[in-house]
Amino acid sequence: MFQCCMARTLLDPSVVIVDSFDRSKLRADTPGCDHRVHLNNAGSAPSPSVVTEAIIEHLRLEEAVGGYEAAQARTEQIATGRAGVARLVNADADDIAFMESSTVALHRILSTLPIRRGDRVLVAASEYGSTILPLLQLTRRLGVRLDIIPDGEDGSLDASSLDRLLDDDVRAVFAVQCPSHNGLVNDVTALGRRLRDLGSHAWYVVDACQSVGQVPVDVGEIGADFLYASGRKFLRGPRGTGFLYVAPRAMAGLDGFPTDVHGGEWTNSDSFQLADTAIRFENFERSYANFMGLFRAVDYLQETDQHGVFAAIQRNAEFLRCRIGATPGYQVLDRGAHRSGIVTFVHTRLTAADVVGALAAASVTASVVRPGINPVDLDGRSTVRLSPHAFNDESDLNLALRTLSELS
Ligand SMILES: Cc1ncc(COP(=O)(O)O)c(C=O)c1O
Repeated sequence: MFQCCMARTLLDPSVVIVDSFDRSKLRADTPGCDHRVHLNNAGSAPSPSVVTEAIIEHLRLEEAVGGYEAAQARTEQIATGRAGVARLVNADADDIAFMESSTVALHRILSTLPIRRGDRVLVAASEYGSTILPLLQLTRRLGVRLDIIPDGEDGSLDASSLDRLLDDDVRAVFAVQCPSHNGLVNDVTALGRRLRDLGSHAWYVVDACQSVGQVPVDVGEIGADFLYASGRKFLRGPRGTGFLYVAPRAMAGLDGFPTDVHGGEWTNSDSFQLADTAIRFENFERSYANFMGLFRAVDYLQETDQHGVFAAIQRNAEFLRCRIGATPGYQVLDRGAHRSGIVTFVHTRLTAADVVGALAAASVTASVVRPGINPVDLDGRSTVRLSPHAFNDESDLNLALRTLSELS
């Protein structure tokens, strides 16, 4: 174990990382720690074994009694699971819809929002590619105008630029809290506050895909109308899971289009009723086994010292940033006053794929961020991304750093 002391400056090589967080249980619970150093938790984190067991247990039940019957038998656990997810972001259980991914949540939001020809939509400069693509499609289909909310001097979202950008024609505002291609944390709370202070009626949509599980997220504080996240990232749940928070204002004014027989009821030839909770945004069909895994992952985080986990992720990332920044041949690209568990950098001579390949050969899992994730921010370059979790220890980080310094 090592002790903690946060970096004084981003690239200060003299920083000593001092950390009293006890990660031994996290490591013992994570078979994925045994043979590899997993530093791609922003891609998909290895689950604790209790998550895998919860999935298998549900699959066994389906095998024994049938899928619908198994789901029926789990009615209570599903309600408890929904409440657990809600607690994670300080929401009511009725405001949570289960989603298969962040992108599925975004698509349901986009099909629901009354975005019309001539409307304007604002997006954070560090937005994720899959958010921008359908918005660009709307510019072509409906002549919607897409305006970027510029970053401030520190490179993160500048809420004050709303004063200039906001008008009655702005229908929706999209902001990512932790971008996946850069280690910054955008102040989505300041943006939400500014929207309210300026009396805007625009729908406020927050992408918390990378933030849930690594920073505290409070939907009330943020003031989001919608907020979504994926289960497989810092939350350490299985792939194919996620959730959507729908605020009471959105529930009152929007119908969750298109709904199915799970989220609504066809009552007569031309009439129907919608569920009066966020369930109206959900799909009928989903992998119940995977959601049993997600519920277990949420419980696991909440049974652990949650804030200790958040702090350990940040310290691990800051440690990597400092050391990589001090290593000749590397340039750290992270910006912003407040940084996340994502570390991005380039090698001055080697491609990102070469660097990630060398790390893989040393049993360190890293990832390449393609320019298409955000070509403006990335300026057409691929970058290397390391995203440690709290279960990564000093020897994990040092193995990655040794491999990188051999390349430099
Ligand atoms: C910031 C961000 N938003 C959205 C997404 C899309 O998430 P999903 O692949 O679960 O739909 C990702 C995926 O990596 C992401 O990093």
